[in-house]
Amino acid sequence: MAILEVCGLKKNFGSLKVLKGIDFQTEKGKVTSILGPSGSGKSTFIRCLNRLEKITEGTIRIDGETLADTVDGKVVYAPEKEARRICGKTGMVFQNFNLFPHMTVLENVTAAPISVQKRPAAEVEETAMELLKMVGLSEKAKQYPSSLSGGQQQRVAIARALALKPEILFFDEPTSALDPELTGEVLRVIRDLAAERMTMLIVTHEIEFALGVSDQVVFMDGGYIVESGTADALINHPKNERTRAFLNRMHEV
Ligand SMILES: Nc1ncnc2c1ncn2[C@@H]1O[C@H](COP(=O)(O)OP(=O)(O)OP(=O)(O)O)[C@@H](O)[C@H]1O
Ligand SMILES: [Mg+2]
Repeated sequence: MAILEVCGLKKNFGSLKVLKGIDFQTEKGKVTSILGPSGSGKSTFIRCLNRLEKITEGTIRIDGETLADTVDGKVVYAPEKEARRICGKTGMVFQNFNLFPHMTVLENVTAAPISVQKRPAAEVEETAMELLKMVGLSEKAKQYPSSLSGGQQQRVAIARALALKPEILFFDEPTSALDPELTGEVLRVIRDLAAERMTMLIVTHEIEFALGVSDQVVFMDGGYIVESGTADALINHPKNERTRAFLNRMHEV
């Protein structure tokens, strides 16, 4: 069964048509990378999946449950409580980490599980310490984000997302704000998660990484998924002219 299913997704900002009819699905344990030029709608797509943006038309199903559907041309979301629960199955890692600056690393990871999910603090802290260990940052638990490098902050952000026990994790260019020498440590954590069969959707410009980690790669351009396939098919043997042109440009830089 598809853990995420998107049909006919459209998103307009006023008169600007950003997503023009996206059909997409993925299964549990699969890693999907999303490639595409700036402005093609990659972030908007991901943001629609967890209600950071309201869709204009289409259907979104997460883990078999309908988050949003279109009936007689009108978008209908699940009732607020249901929608929150369904979106709770997803986690998000942003380009700019978005850690809470006034909280320690450990507090960043434990805050939402305790206050939103109402889980017992002791259990949450134990899990948080395990996650910080997994991302290689146990010894930073009591420090504040400002004392960490960008790569370390992003690894905390990943631990924070995982602490909410999502079924599926979205990444929006997780390494784009990092100096090149810091991208490796973040990509390594994502690779570890892939090896553990975490379901992930990753917007990235790291072609080699996408090739190595993804079960499926999609190429977006102009608000459409222009081409999708296995990582090898899409990256090494692209069929569409626009995919080819994009990959050629990426190899030049
Ligand atoms: N809140 C908004 N209001 C109006 N227009 C928006 C909004 N968010 C995004 N857009 C527009 O939607 C289009 C797609 O933006 P989006 O951020 O999804 O692209 P992207 O593929 O993620 O690009 P990048 O690679 O630069 O991050 C752009 O033209 C952008 O200006
Ligand atoms: Mg973007």
